[in-house]
Amino acid sequence: MKNLVILTGAGMSAESGISTFRDAGGLWDQYPVEQVATPEGYVANPQLVIQFYNERRKQLLQVKPNRGHELVAELEKYFNVTVITQNVDNLHERAGSSHVIHLHGELTKVTSTLQPNNPNYIKELKPEEFEVKIGDLAADGSQFRPFIVWFGESVPMIEKAIEYVETADVFLIIGTSLNVYPAAGLLNYVPRDVPVYLIDPKEVPIASDRKVYAIRKGASDGMEELKKILVR
Ligand code: APR
Repeated sequence: MKNLVILTGAGMSAESGISTFRDAGGLWDQYPVEQVATPEGYVANPQLVIQFYNERRKQLLQVKPNRGHELVAELEKYFNVTVITQNVDNLHERAGSSHVIHLHGELTKVTSTLQPNNPNYIKELKPEEFEVKIGDLAADGSQFRPFIVWFGESVPMIEKAIEYVETADVFLIIGTSLNVYPAAGLLNYVPRDVPVYLIDPKEVPIASDRKVYAIRKGASDGMEELKKILVR
């Protein structure tokens, strides 16, 4: 089977009812990004940051995967699929995708404030544990923080993501404005002769001279169309 590598962003989950970040009325219009998504914001007001992610986790219990996620999972019948997602939700997994790399962390996990990337301190929360409190401590005695990659932090999963991108036979981008690096730079690791498809209702500026086959539709309709192209 051929390798299909898919990079997804917030637009993938938009039809499930999760806001994107940079569209009008998006999450970064509602909450100042420097307060809720930077290490400095966390130091300044851990309570606010923990609360912000508690709300995101609560929302996770109210939403479900959309047709787009389901079609991404269905493509495993025809391809070795690797999903590289910037999303912190678990909708790809819940739709049945079996190989998902989360570049920006996962809402369902918490970790040590002192050593966020030490696997010994990362904990998967059960739904009844989704409401994290000040005083909930990691095994090293530090406050549990969200297992989220904030702006200004390193992106440890990028190396693994690059390895998969370099083996792609087909590359697909869904619902990302490609504003945030290093995720946006993954396109540069796609082998030269590999077809690149992009599903997004808006035009996404590409910082590369690559030929990209754009499907100007939402994730669900776009995936229906793409499936017809890839699976004949
Ligand atoms: N289907 C597909 N794409 C959609 C849909 C939809 N129904 N609705 C909107 N989009 C597109 C938008 O047109 C836009 O191009 O999704 C994209 C969302 O872009 P952003 O809000 O910038 O989200 P994303 O690219 O995932 O952000 C990257 O930024 O703040 C950080 O860590 C956060 O992972 C996030 C990163």
